[in-house]
Amino acid sequence: MTIERTLGLIKPDGLERGKQGLIIDRILQNGFKILAMKQIRLTKAQAEGFYAEHAARPFFGSLCSYMTSGQIIAMTLEKENAIADWRKLMGATNPEKADAGTIRKDFAVDMEKNSVHGSDSPASAGREVPHFFSNLEF
Ligand code: RTP
Ligand code: MG
Repeated sequence: MTIERTLGLIKPDGLERGKQGLIIDRILQNGFKILAMKQIRLTKAQAEGFYAEHAARPFFGSLCSYMTSGQIIAMTLEKENAIADWRKLMGATNPEKADAGTIRKDFAVDMEKNSVHGSDSPASAGREVPHFFSNLEF
């Protein structure tokens, strides 16, 4: 297996309810290195650009207003097999369907307010990490 980097976000519902410390602890306990981390509030244009792949979906407007409703934490995570392993630790999009012990099962509110984001492929990670971090930040 190769060392990979992936983008992790803690979404507004996670910060709103003060879950960021617990979520970051799980990330570290599961062997990820946090290479870069920042707490920011996305503009509407940044949220729409980030989720451009979902522009035609019925939930796009709601998703972008939710993602700009409060601050988020963006992280670049690194470990062996980081992309798939972070998705596994996050759990299914719908927290009701997420496996026991996953972040979404334990912390998410609903299908939209599901506490975390993770890149879903090497191509996505390659696009999403630079969306938040320049090479100068590593
Ligand atoms: P993410 O991109 O945030 O890591 O989540 P994901 O891959 O598990 O889910 P995706 O299909 O990419 O959807 C992106 C985010 O949009 C919201 N969503 N709402 N109301 C709905 O039916 C619905 N479906 C998706 C969620 O916040 C989801 O994480
Ligand atoms: Mg996704």
